[in-house]
Formats: sequence, structure tokens, C-alpha cells
Amino acid sequence: MQTISIIDAKNHVDEKVKIGVWLTNKRSSGKIAFLQLRDGSAFFQGVVVKNNVSEEVFKRAKEVKQETSMYVTGTIHEDARSHFGYEIEIEDIEIVGESENYPITPKEHGTDFLMDHRHLWLRSKRQFAIMQIRNEMIRATYEFFNQEGFIKLDSPILTGSAPEGTTELFHTEYFDRDAYLSQSGQLYAEAGAMAYGKVFTFGPTFRAEKSKTRRHLIEFWMIEPEMAFMHQEESLEIQEKYVAFLVQAVLDNCDYALTILDRDKEVLKEYTKLPYPRISYDEAIKLLQESGEFPDVKWGEDFGSPEETYLANHFSKPVFVMNYPKAIKPFYMKPHPTRDDVVVCADLLAPEGYGEIIGGSERAVDPAYLEAQIKQAGLDVADYEWYLDLRRFGSVPHSGFGLGLERAVTWITGESHIREAIPFPRLLNRIYP
Ligand code: 4AD
Ligand code: MG
Repeated sequence: MQTISIIDAKNHVDEKVKIGVWLTNKRSSGKIAFLQLRDGSAFFQGVVVKNNVSEEVFKRAKEVKQETSMYVTGTIHEDARSHFGYEIEIEDIEIVGESENYPITPKEHGTDFLMDHRHLWLRSKRQFAIMQIRNEMIRATYEFFNQEGFIKLDSPILTGSAPEGTTELFHTEYFDRDAYLSQSGQLYAEAGAMAYGKVFTFGPTFRAEKSKTRRHLIEFWMIEPEMAFMHQEESLEIQEKYVAFLVQAVLDNCDYALTILDRDKEVLKEYTKLPYPRISYDEAIKLLQESGEFPDVKWGEDFGSPEETYLANHFSKPVFVMNYPKAIKPFYMKPHPTRDDVVVCADLLAPEGYGEIIGGSERAVDPAYLEAQIKQAGLDVADYEWYLDLRRFGSVPHSGFGLGLERAVTWITGESHIREAIPFPRLLNRIYP
């Protein structure tokens, strides 16, 4: 007899198998017990019929408590009534680990309670489905950038630089010096691009943002590709190709998870159709003003969540908003060739209210301009000499972007809050568990 995973049940119909499982829920009568089981690969039902098993096994089935771990032995059958399509008719149950008073019961619980029990909550069905999709997006990221000729470059997490501004830095001690937790791998990715052409970083980033929104994490994972000899226009093409690839990979490989989440696959299919619309920041301001919904919106301001939601929903697709005002963007962005007030950049805004999932730009190449920008941002030029070297020794036009993994997971899974997109979210008021 073979020990299998639930997900492989389809290959063992009418065979006798053994599976290591946990009990998620159960229902029983005098003659039959239905055990809802999970093993980390999928969820399905075990059926225990009193007349077909020993008294001892039926007693165990009736008494087993939520989240008890056990080995079940039985025969796999098709089960047309469940989405999963298979069930196991159980002959034997061997308890492995008891579970008393599991705190997360099938009744409704508040968010704080569930967050305090995140280490257990991860076992639930929706969380399982979201983590499957997150995993697929990570896998697809490596596949995409490998196939496009990128190499992965690991940027440091302890740094002395502040690419995205100084207000959101996590400070720490580095022996007798100051250091910060990385808020972006970009500057190192630029060094990588000058060394290896096309690179991407993929690591945790940290922002001490005092914002308590459905879109902000304190610690999040970012994918940051950087390409030498590349202007912004070509970078936008890679960005949309990458996002469409992620959506397609989830459609192709996560059907079970999407069904658990009740995510509309037809809507997702629309997001695989390229190109995505492109509008300028100026046009975006005009659209917002003409909508009548944003009477106070003014040129020069950054968009909030309602503005981003309006813009992406206007197109029902992810939309690139290009060339934002220089004053609201970081120091490294390339100035516009004919205008002083904007930079060559774009944010990709996701529809359905999810907002910015990518920020990117062409990079400034003139060392004198960059030095002035670094000073103006209140940074110490000495900390950026290495970065300026990239412009002194064979500088080339180059562009890059950063995709926030959890923003993209939240959007593709259709979840309402970003805390669900990462196993152990770090939020303004949460570092437990
Ligand atoms: O727009 P951002 O700040 O851009 C950068 O960090 C650039 N260095 C990227 C680059 O050009 N290499 O962040 C990029 C993305 C955002 O579009 C968003 O998806 C995500 O990172 N992001 C966050 N995700 C979760 N919580 C936060 N607090 C986030 N801040 C940014
Ligand atoms: Mg941004």
C-alpha cells in the first residue's frame, strides 16, 4: 500500500492508500462520519461507515477533534459533488498528535484574533489557496526572467543608502556605524546591470511607513529588474509582459486555488491581453478633474488610493501612468528631455481598487545632475560615491522597475487586504507572531 498526498488522489482511484492528514471539521450520525481532511497539498473528505469498520475505528472517527493529526488508510473514490472530485473511504485511523481546544473554530472570528493566531490561521483553506498562488508567482518570476536572459543578483539587506527617501528608513547599529534595512535593491541592481546587462533582485524590503492601509506592509518582497542599454519604452514592454505572464501562470497552474477563492477567471484572462493602456500623469489629472469625483485634485500632487482606483477602473485593465512630477519622485529618475517639471517614469496601476503594483523609471545618467539631486534629497554624497562611479565608468542608458509581490498577490487573488498575501505580515502595530 502506498502513502500518497491528497493532491495525487486522482491517480489512485479505487486503490487502497495511506495519507497523513489533519482534521479540519467533521459531521457524523449514528452510522456514518464525514471527516474534512487536509494534508497541505489539498482538502478533501474522508467517509467512515460504521458497518464497514471496527467499533474502535468508528469511535475514533466520532471523537477525533479539530486539527488532530493522523494517518488514514482507505480507498480513493470519485466524488462528483465536491469541487476536488475525490474522497477517501476510510478503513483505519491512526492518531499521530492530539489537538485539544483548537482556538480557530468554524464560527466567525475577528481580524485581530485571527492575526494573533496567524501561525494556526495559515492552515485554513483560503490562506492555503493564497499561499499556493504566491508560490506560483514566485516560481513564474524566476521562469520569466530566466527566459528573458536576466540573472538574479542578490542585493544586500543591510545598507547605508536610502534610494526611496529618508523618512521611511529602519535604522540599526552596524558595529560602530549606522546602517539601514534595505528599502529597495535598486541601486545595487544598477551596479549589477552595468556588470551583467540584465539582472533582477528579489528580496525583502523594509519601510517604516506610518500608513495603516489595506495596501501597505512594513516588510514586503520586491522584484526589481534592471536593464542596461534600455530606454523606458522598452522597459514598459517588459513590465507588461511580466505581469501578463504572472497572471497566465496562475490561470494555468492554480485552478484549484482560484476556485477556493472564488476568483473570476474571465476577469483574470482580460489581464493577459496586451498592451496595457498608457497615459501621462497630465492626462490622468485631466481624467480625474473631468470625472467630477475629485474636485480638489491638483497637478503636482501624488495620487491617493481613490484616484488610483478611479484611473485603473476607467480602463478595466492595468494602466501605466507616465511622467510624474519630479518633485514627488526619487532622486535617481531621468529628467524629461524637453520638460523640467517631470521625470521619465511610470507606475502601473492595477484595476479593481488595488492601486500601484509597479513603480519604475529610466535612470538619470549625468553624474553632476545626480550629485545635485542626491544633495537636494538631503543625502550624504559620500555614501553614494560608488553609485556615481556607475556614471563615471562607461555609463549607458538604463531602466528598471520594482514589482511589490504582495500587492500583486492581493490583486490576482482578489483579496481585500494585503496582510493576507504574506505568511507573517509586519504591520504598523503587529510583529507577533
Ligand atoms: O514605487 P516604489 O517605492 O519603487 C521602488 O522602490 C523602486 N526602487 C523600484 C525600482 O525602480 N527598482 O516600490 C515599488 C513597488 C510598488 O509599486 C508597490 O508595488 C510595492 O513596491 N510597495 C509596497 N508594497 C507593500 N507595502 C509597502 N509599504 C510598499 N511600498 C511599495
Ligand atoms: Mg511608487
